[in-house]
Amino acid sequence: EMDKFIDELMARMTLEEKIGQLNLVAVGFDVTGPVVSQNVDENIRKGNVGGVFNTFTPVAARKLQEMAVNNTRLKIPLLFGYDVIHGHRTIFPIPLGLSTSWDMEAIERSARIAADEASADGLNWVFSPMVDIARDARWGRIAEGAGEDPYLGSQVARAMVRGYQGDDLSEENTVMATVKHFALYGAAEAGRDYNTVDMSLNRMFNEYLPPYKAAIEAGAGSVMTSFNEVNGVPASANKWLLTELLRDKWGFDGFVVTDYTAINELVAHGIGDEAHVGALALKAGADMDMVGEVFLKNLKQAVQSGAVSEEDINKATRRILEAKYKLGLFEDPYLYTDEERAKNTIMKPAYREAAREIARKSMVLLKNEKQVLPLQKSGTIALIGPLAKNQRDMIGNWSGAGDWKQAVSLEQGIRNVAGPGVKIKYAKGANIADDEQMIQRLNAHGGDLEIDKRSSEEMIAEAVKTASASDVIVAVVGESQGMTGEAASRADITLPGQQRELLKALKKTGKPMVVVLMNGRPLALTWEDENADAILETWFAGTEAGNAIADVLFGNYNPSGKLTASFPQVVGQVPLYYAHKNTGRPFGGELLDKYKSRYMDVTNEPLYPFGYGLSYTTFDYSQPQLSKNSISANESLEVKVDVKNTGNYDGEEVVQLYVQDVVGSITRPVKELKGFQKINLKKGETQTVTFTITPEDLMFYNNELERVLEPGEFKVYVGTNSRDVQEASFTVRENQ
Ligand code: IFM
Repeated sequence: EMDKFIDELMARMTLEEKIGQLNLVAVGFDVTGPVVSQNVDENIRKGNVGGVFNTFTPVAARKLQEMAVNNTRLKIPLLFGYDVIHGHRTIFPIPLGLSTSWDMEAIERSARIAADEASADGLNWVFSPMVDIARDARWGRIAEGAGEDPYLGSQVARAMVRGYQGDDLSEENTVMATVKHFALYGAAEAGRDYNTVDMSLNRMFNEYLPPYKAAIEAGAGSVMTSFNEVNGVPASANKWLLTELLRDKWGFDGFVVTDYTAINELVAHGIGDEAHVGALALKAGADMDMVGEVFLKNLKQAVQSGAVSEEDINKATRRILEAKYKLGLFEDPYLYTDEERAKNTIMKPAYREAAREIARKSMVLLKNEKQVLPLQKSGTIALIGPLAKNQRDMIGNWSGAGDWKQAVSLEQGIRNVAGPGVKIKYAKGANIADDEQMIQRLNAHGGDLEIDKRSSEEMIAEAVKTASASDVIVAVVGESQGMTGEAASRADITLPGQQRELLKALKKTGKPMVVVLMNGRPLALTWEDENADAILETWFAGTEAGNAIADVLFGNYNPSGKLTASFPQVVGQVPLYYAHKNTGRPFGGELLDKYKSRYMDVTNEPLYPFGYGLSYTTFDYSQPQLSKNSISANESLEVKVDVKNTGNYDGEEVVQLYVQDVVGSITRPVKELKGFQKINLKKGETQTVTFTITPEDLMFYNNELERVLEPGEFKVYVGTNSRDVQEASFTVRENQ
């Protein structure tokens, strides 16, 4: 039916009208790159626009939709896209934080709520999920993804796509998802945004591509190209990537949109002039041109000169029209512009409540000495730090249509949760940044930094005085939201400004010190780890940040988050990830062992490993039991482990299963996550957790890029994080 409808429509379209569908323009509120589209109204009326983004509200979307439907010859409706990244109006934790919940149901729910709000707000297409594997904490966009691991990343990718798209894209409350950034954007050299990517195919297939593939298998309707090159060919003109792999191998049948002006940027990449790169991008498999108007300005000429064929254009146009059809836009162009629904949906109390619940689940307890946490709901708290009263940063980067003025600060959250029994004494103690140029850059892009003009000494002295007159210090430190996200790489990943100096001074008061972190990347926190009594990683936790953090601090919720990206000791260790190779000279930790793969000045270990996170209670693991010691290559195997809650609180634990292929035709990682279960254990309770290891879990891409299971020895590791595990092993026999 769809095919017939589109055949008939396309038969009536002129070449110009077809090219118009390939043009995506930015309208309005946000500037996400160097150019914003010009003459939008005129272009829409002329049929030169296939979709718009950065416009929302049902009224604004309806206005533009009317412009298209009432003025163009064929009345083709527009797509309405937006960067709905971790919530639309009700904001959830940044994606890195969502991933540390290890709770796929919660992650899917966050995307479902975002879709409900966005689709009530004029939108039908979201530029999410971002599934780029990131192993370099310097890269600012590590905040936007699910961290370093392909297995976990794939699960998150699927959950997000399901949440956005539901079962039926033509429902009024579902939106089309965009998998981005295809591909390997997170592997930018030196963690510098937009930088070169050069990677072996076996690493690509085994470690970086799985989450994109998972999202596509989950049915994601569109894919966004990445800004980087991939082995010498920029992604937006990379035919191998966009056609041979994505469509021919993986069977993707949606449409490909470029990133913002990414086709124009092919000129700077050095692969030709504008006319040439426009043709290259189309022929490579890019269907829609975001903002740059290279297609609009060059494709007609390119058909005339023979650089592209009308058939190339037809393919792209058809994919855009199919997306519109699937979204139900031909039936009702105004499906997503229901003002009544917007009123009843956006930021409704149940959604704020969900944001609070999900935010709590995302927090990671990094340290808790002498059970300083949870805090008592009595006594005096010295609430110190540039983020303690802050609302602006709570919703994090890429917070779409979120309104930070709706966000709950930690100070407010403590008042809400602890009640009148707790006295709060506040001092700012330090600015979030003290480097003049950094401050200017952040403020130039919506940082809204409140910089205290007092000297650092004066601010610290005030904080010390406040702390001395209190029972416990809660120091709320970290990054401002603008220090992470796009174009926000940092070469120094310690706490910015004078915040560590502040903590050092507070430490000298001898009061118990709880450090609450807000940040969008793994930080280098060796000093903090040695000196704080407790550390709680809260990321940028969203609209309900303050309430959710206070729930954790006062024990209304027992923290259960686990890191999804390794925290290094120092920045010089990055890229750092648990699933590394052994090398020919693995370092075993002996001081004088020189000719090993090691540093002179720091061990190879992370400060906090992947999968790490504490609870207010403690868990004991039994030795893992395997159902068999030897299997054939088409058999599965069960791993059972008893987990006991041995502490004083009920709590959740993420039980993690890792596998190592000991000998391979190519080198294999020392361990790889292949399963996890988040379980709830009452105080004193024991549960048996069962994992099934399937042949698929043991397979990998060999150097011929065949997916193989190679017989031989495998090790199984089960534990509370990627480091603290217990081991078992089994063999896969040759098939008879
Ligand atoms: O979706 C984003 C992308 O992640 C980065 N460049 C701009 C796009 C649209 O805003």
